[in-house]
Amino acid sequence: MSTHVFHWLLRRRYLLLPYSMFLIAFSLLENHVISLYKLTYIVASFQCVYPKVESWSLDGHGDCCSWDGIECDKATGHVIGIDLSHGCLFGTLSSNTSLFRLLHLESLNLAWNDFNYSWFPYGFGNLSQLYYLNLSSSYLLGKVPSDISWLSKLVSLDLNAELHLQLPLGEREWISLEMPNIDNFIQNFTMLKELDLSFINMSSPFPHVLVNFSSLKSLKLTECELHGEFPTGTLQLPNLKALDISENYNLFGKVPISIGNLVSLNELSIDGCNFSGLLPTSMGNLSQLGHLGLSSNEFHGQIPTFFANLTHLSYLDLSYNNFSGGIGHWFVNLVKLTDLDLSDCQLSGPITYSFKNLTQLVWLRLYYNNLQGEIPNSLWGLKDLEWLDLYGNNLTGTVDLHKLKKLRMLDLSFNNISFASKAEINATLPKLSALYLSSCNLHEFPKFLAYLGRLEEISLSHNNIEGSVPMWMWNGSRESLLIMDLSHNFLIGFENNQINLPLPKLTNLDISSNRLKTELPSPPPSVNRYNISNNFLIEEIQSICNGRSLIIMDLSNNRLNGTIPSCVGNMDYLSILNLGKNKLVGMIPHAYPKGCTLEMIDLIENRLQGPVPRSLTNCANLEYLNLAHNQILDGFPLWLSELTKLKVVILKSNKFYGPIEAYRSQFNFSYMHIMDLSYNNFSGKLPFKLLQSLHAMEVITRQEREYSKVPFALMHIDFSNNKFEGQIPDLIGDLKSLIFLNLSNNILTGSIPPSLANLTLLESLDLSRNKLSGEIPRNLAQLTFLSSFNVSNNQLSGPIPQGSQFNTFSIDSFAMNEGLCGSPLPKKCTKVGDNLPLPPFPHEKFGEESLFNSEWKFVLIGVGVGFLIGIVLGNLIIDEKSIIIWLGFPHALYLHMFERT
Ligand SMILES: *[C@@H]1O[C@H](CO)[C@@H](O)[C@H](O)[C@H]1NC(C)=O
Ligand SMILES: *[C@@H]1O[C@H](CO)[C@@H](O)[C@H](O)[C@H]1NC(C)=O
Ligand SMILES: *[C@@H]1O[C@H](CO)[C@@H](O)[C@H](O)[C@H]1NC(C)=O
Ligand SMILES: *[C@@H]1O[C@H](CO)[C@@H](O)[C@H](O)[C@H]1NC(C)=O
Ligand SMILES: *[C@@H]1O[C@H](CO)[C@@H](O)[C@H](O)[C@H]1NC(C)=O
Ligand SMILES: *[C@@H]1O[C@H](CO)[C@@H](O)[C@H](O)[C@H]1NC(C)=O
Ligand SMILES: *[C@@H]1O[C@H](CO)[C@@H](O)[C@H](O)[C@H]1NC(C)=O
Ligand SMILES: *[C@@H]1O[C@H](CO)[C@@H](O)[C@H](O)[C@H]1NC(C)=O
Repeated sequence: MSTHVFHWLLRRRYLLLPYSMFLIAFSLLENHVISLYKLTYIVASFQCVYPKVESWSLDGHGDCCSWDGIECDKATGHVIGIDLSHGCLFGTLSSNTSLFRLLHLESLNLAWNDFNYSWFPYGFGNLSQLYYLNLSSSYLLGKVPSDISWLSKLVSLDLNAELHLQLPLGEREWISLEMPNIDNFIQNFTMLKELDLSFINMSSPFPHVLVNFSSLKSLKLTECELHGEFPTGTLQLPNLKALDISENYNLFGKVPISIGNLVSLNELSIDGCNFSGLLPTSMGNLSQLGHLGLSSNEFHGQIPTFFANLTHLSYLDLSYNNFSGGIGHWFVNLVKLTDLDLSDCQLSGPITYSFKNLTQLVWLRLYYNNLQGEIPNSLWGLKDLEWLDLYGNNLTGTVDLHKLKKLRMLDLSFNNISFASKAEINATLPKLSALYLSSCNLHEFPKFLAYLGRLEEISLSHNNIEGSVPMWMWNGSRESLLIMDLSHNFLIGFENNQINLPLPKLTNLDISSNRLKTELPSPPPSVNRYNISNNFLIEEIQSICNGRSLIIMDLSNNRLNGTIPSCVGNMDYLSILNLGKNKLVGMIPHAYPKGCTLEMIDLIENRLQGPVPRSLTNCANLEYLNLAHNQILDGFPLWLSELTKLKVVILKSNKFYGPIEAYRSQFNFSYMHIMDLSYNNFSGKLPFKLLQSLHAMEVITRQEREYSKVPFALMHIDFSNNKFEGQIPDLIGDLKSLIFLNLSNNILTGSIPPSLANLTLLESLDLSRNKLSGEIPRNLAQLTFLSSFNVSNNQLSGPIPQGSQFNTFSIDSFAMNEGLCGSPLPKKCTKVGDNLPLPPFPHEKFGEESLFNSEWKFVLIGVGVGFLIGIVLGNLIIDEKSIIIWLGFPHALYLHMFERT
């Protein structure tokens, strides 16, 4: 996963987007670029504006030339123009439409109608007089028909296929139009002045023919899946005023010096491509530029001072590049700027220059830099500011919001800003809907919260707030609050011990990692994500049954007691249930009805007894089951195998017993990543058929879609500390993606199968404390990732393999085996050839993304929250449910990533 994607995720952790928007977000996730502004714009913009057709008299009377939107030739009476844009048309557009019989049409605009995803019809080619054709955002599907390319008189062609979604999105596709042969398609259009083919999948190199389209004024090819090198000739078209080729992630190139000749250019958007190098100083001559988007490329060097010349700029986005150095002073006179984004530009040092001339600024984003020192006071005078994001710098200073009446979003998190109580922010901000003050060194709830009337989302996490959660906090926004994150503070309870929060719209509540010593706050019925983990909650948990909308419930690591209420089994949406690390007793309730929605159950470290309830087989989506460290008394739940999506089963440290393979039992654990049966009383042979069914472990899946978003794919088997006997089956060598294998402290006999050398990703192998005999297979020295190896306390003999990782293992790895000899043991081998090192083995190492060299290790050590997210994240791209899961997780994800660094 690229850092871009991380940043993307982090930035968007607080989006209040409807579910379908998340789908968009995720379709774009890979490509990391889209401004929130744009997202919200998309939602807001599709509306039925002007139903012209309604005024038409279709009864045969009247002159159609007088109808709204129709233009006729005065002499001939032929219809020559139709403009039904934003016309509220809905339904199929088919080839036999009478439209295609209007052979004299010169201008046709059907933009922004909803043709209900009908196939893009043939027929436009008949309209040979057309010079203007506009079908932008009209919900057509399929290949753009080639007959359009006959229209050689076209001066303006707009087929922009951007979707302006009407919710719910349902099954609709993202990119609906394709144009497999763009070069042929446009070659006749040499008269074109305007061309917009954005959001059409071309899946081709940039169309070179365009460099000869000398009349072009406006060229828009956003998100067309163009790749390869960008022909710089396009930046020499003499009449070009607007060029937008953004979001073509695999288009690369440099900005040529000749760009300076395009003196009338007023829009240049190359965001989200793969441009690199320095920005040429000739850009300083583009004095007409109003819109410049260079975000998410690989530009480097200091932000050039020539920007100071671009005094017409209203939109400037340089975010997500590799610029360096200070922020400079070039911006101080760009008085027309409304939108300035310098996020994640590796900027450092203080902001010593004033913002006071940027009086029109609406959006200012400087997040993810290393800016230091005081925030210039001039910033607090920018009255039009709606969006201020300074997240993740090292800025200091006193915040003064009282002039920023238009502010909608304020993020000052993770800075060095402190709110001394006398300088406390004191302002009424009537439009503020999102406020993030994480890690702002707050010691109490800021008083002005009480006066916010429209707050939807607030985060005060990672501060030092003590005492109780005051009820006045939501005086103004009781009816609007959706998301509240108070995690990582020192809160002990609620004012007046009011554990029923009167917030009727709240969907997300996170008060984890505080010091709450109350009973369980009862989840408001609207809440779907509820995290009160890591507190000191006491008493029983029956009140969770109020949470009818819960999707994610995390009450882990508290002091809750009593039994698990059976309502957890039949909540309509509950997908993640974490009650781990409490003092719960009794049986796990037998209450999972058909259609149970649970995907993850974590009951680790309680005092639960009895068998695993068989009704869990109704939870067909279950992926993760952790019952470790309880007192569960049961045979191996063979029926778990009916849960075909299971990825993680952890039964460690219970009282499970008996052999696992009854005669002829069949298993299907195709997706299993982690199976931990350690510290139980399992006996009999190692379960051959079970191991045989672990298909996910058999393939090294780097490309597989399902795992491609997972930062790691840990494959892990732990059967240690049981009473397994017999031989280690050879087939274990088929589980090629295993990273961790522990069979220690059993009663295994026979020799170590040489097939283990096939486990080329193995990092840890523990076979100690068994009765294994024979030699250590010499080819194990091929396991270049092996960093932990233990075969001590067996009956092994012969020479210890030499070379590679084996040179790094200590004596303890081999101790208590009478017959072993050779380094690191003191005992020398005597037979000839015993100490010969193995010839080098050609080994294909994974690249940078390898799991083994990354920081993820830290998280992996404990199978904790971080790990879990990896798993969950892995799915979220695939199906709806998992997206919902993620929806609830952003904060955890975010924490997780903070842990990481
Ligand atoms: C729109 O498309 C859907 C799915 O193809 C179809 O069921 C529906 O009838 C269409 N509506 C109109 C008005 O054509
Ligand atoms: C046009 O063709 C569609 C099928 O493609 C048919 O259902 C419809 O009746 C036809 N309309 C006319 C006016 O012929
Ligand atoms: C096409 O029509 C839409 C909607 O009216 C308009 O916004 C857009 O500018 C038009 N495109 C061209 C190239 O004129
Ligand atoms: C674009 O088209 C190519 C080739 O048909 C296809 O492989 C790719 O998935 C498409 N991309 C999108 C985003 O639809
Ligand atoms: C551009 O036009 C010139 C002269 O007509 C021709 O030689 C050249 O091949 C054209 N370039 C492209 C890329 O079509
Ligand atoms: C970005 O461009 C460089 C060449 O400048 C190329 O090596 C790299 O593969 C490109 N990346 C992508 C994602 O296309
Ligand atoms: C920019 O304009 C100046 C003066 O108009 C001219 O001297 C200079 O050559 C131009 N630079 C570029 C790179 O076009
Ligand atoms: C933040 O700034 C202070 C000085 O203002 C400096 O001591 C500290 O190292 C900076 N922290 C980071 C992470 O750069």
